[in-house]
Amino acid sequence: MSLSHPFTARLIAWQQQAGRHDLPWQNTRDPYRIWLSEIMLQQTQVITVIPYYQRFLARFPDVLSLAAASIDEVIPYWAGLGYYARARNLHRCAQVIATVHGGHFPKTALELAELPGIGRSTAAAVAAFAFGAQSAILDGNVKRVLCRQFGIEGFPGAKAVETGLWQLAERLLPEHGIEIYTQGLMDLGATVCTRNRPKCGDCPVAEHCVARLSERQAVLPEARPRAAIPERSTAYVMLIAGNQVLLERRPSEGLWGGLLSLPEGGIDDWLGQLGSTLRTERPLPPLRHTFTHFRLTLQTVIGEITPPKKPLPAGLTWVDLDAAPEAGVPTPIRTLLKQAASGRR
Ligand code: ADE
Repeated sequence: MSLSHPFTARLIAWQQQAGRHDLPWQNTRDPYRIWLSEIMLQQTQVITVIPYYQRFLARFPDVLSLAAASIDEVIPYWAGLGYYARARNLHRCAQVIATVHGGHFPKTALELAELPGIGRSTAAAVAAFAFGAQSAILDGNVKRVLCRQFGIEGFPGAKAVETGLWQLAERLLPEHGIEIYTQGLMDLGATVCTRNRPKCGDCPVAEHCVARLSERQAVLPEARPRAAIPERSTAYVMLIAGNQVLLERRPSEGLWGGLLSLPEGGIDDWLGQLGSTLRTERPLPPLRHTFTHFRLTLQTVIGEITPPKKPLPAGLTWVDLDAAPEAGVPTPIRTLLKQAASGRR
């Protein structure tokens, strides 16, 4: 009697009946051919990989021929697949296998994962397909399948979530048929449980799928949390002479491009530039404003000043204090101008 989880049993039955059986790296136990396919498939789709895989094997039929070649001989066979670090690691890995392992691939996922370019999931795939090892894969597609099937919340790349997913992946391993099961997971993720518009009608494990039952296929797996929004702080001056306030035209590029705003900086700098003296000074409460990519704290000081003795620098203009909030200023500046006007009434 099989003690496999129902998910596992159904996936195996489905793979045998509906999965992929004729990919060029299937129907072999040669770890070199399996390893090469898994590396090529890491960031590249099956349909793209197939011709590269065949050309590569024709030129480098085994790990020793690859190890004996120079990297410059290998690169042309990779050109177009992208991610050239993969090709360099592939070549280095072949040389380690040739020199350290006597030309033979190690047989466990743990040892395979020590080799250049082979992560835990790739190591498990090679160990399972080549040696029938009981090892669990967990690539991006498998994470998606498991998050949906078992309703696992949180970003699957987060350490705690990922640790739980590995434990789950290991608990689901079959008693028999690791190769079919592993291929079934890959096939389901690639062809049925796709990122967008999963084909739940074709899915062998739809019946118990938490995402489907709660209509959360589009929500699970959860996206990477947005990075904390950066905080910025800027000092503004609200220089008032009589019932007029000094505004400055913003440069056409960048934040608030082309709008009128309050001048930035400290009061003393501006007094010098204008040839004014300070009558009274009071701070406005800091105002926080959130933009798409950052949060700005506006630190504003109101300075009642004597009329300037010097000509106004370019870009500066006097505006009636009552009209200023409606003079085409950005929203937080408008808020500040209104606060100042109401403070004077
Ligand atoms: N993606 C990664 N490994 C694969 C495999 N063995 N078959 C199909 N797609 C894959």
